[in-house]
Amino acid sequence: MPFYNHANLAIAIQMTIYDPSRLEMAITRVSNWVLTRYYKRFIDELELQENDKVLDFGSGTGYMTKLISKKLPGEESWITCVEISEKWTKAARKNLKRFKKADFCTGMITELVMKEKFYDKVVIHVVLHDIAKDERQAVVKALTKTLKKKGKLIIRDPTNPSHGMPPEEIREVMKKAGMVELHSQLTERKFLGEVFDGVFEKK
Ligand SMILES: C[S@@+](CC[C@H](N)C(=O)[O-])C[C@H]1O[C@@H](n2cnc3c(N)ncnc32)[C@H](O)[C@@H]1O
Repeated sequence: MPFYNHANLAIAIQMTIYDPSRLEMAITRVSNWVLTRYYKRFIDELELQENDKVLDFGSGTGYMTKLISKKLPGEESWITCVEISEKWTKAARKNLKRFKKADFCTGMITELVMKEKFYDKVVIHVVLHDIAKDERQAVVKALTKTLKKKGKLIIRDPTNPSHGMPPEEIREVMKKAGMVELHSQLTERKFLGEVFDGVFEKK
């Protein structure tokens, strides 16, 4: 019988909430595969450079991260997957087992001890809207701390009011975290509806 104090009981409860069911995992794996071309096009937009260090926030199965790893040249390149769910982290580890320049962090980014000013790129792909509204600012602030000066944060998130977040809110959290918008656009996507695509730079 494990010993639970208040802190680790809270973590245990959180993990139960965040961890996906087997069915959800299976469906996600299939949809990842179906969406391979879509992911590849998104990755082209990251403009990956030799030796880039990339933080994939909310990496899920790690399927997209694996595709990123194939496009990441240079001996000193690195990928970090950050996930709230233990189960997804395990899946991502499996997907990236051949790629030796990767590590995996599980937990809330605001509580994890991360390298500061280390990453060239932070990628947020369909994650921020899933985080409670009152936690988004702190999450983005914690992510920007990990970026080098002039590092880029590339975000794609749906804007649908029922399951998304408005572009103005994305811009506001970025601005408050000290990020400067380089460009953004709204696009209609088949499965996600309208999405906000933005590239922000750390001052
Ligand atoms: C819709 S999935 C997107 C997965 C991946 N980025 C992709 O596009 O294939 C959202 C992911 O964000 C993760 N997530 C949700 N809240 C999170 C948080 N606070 N910190 C890290 N990951 C989180 C979920 O566990 C899930 O794996």
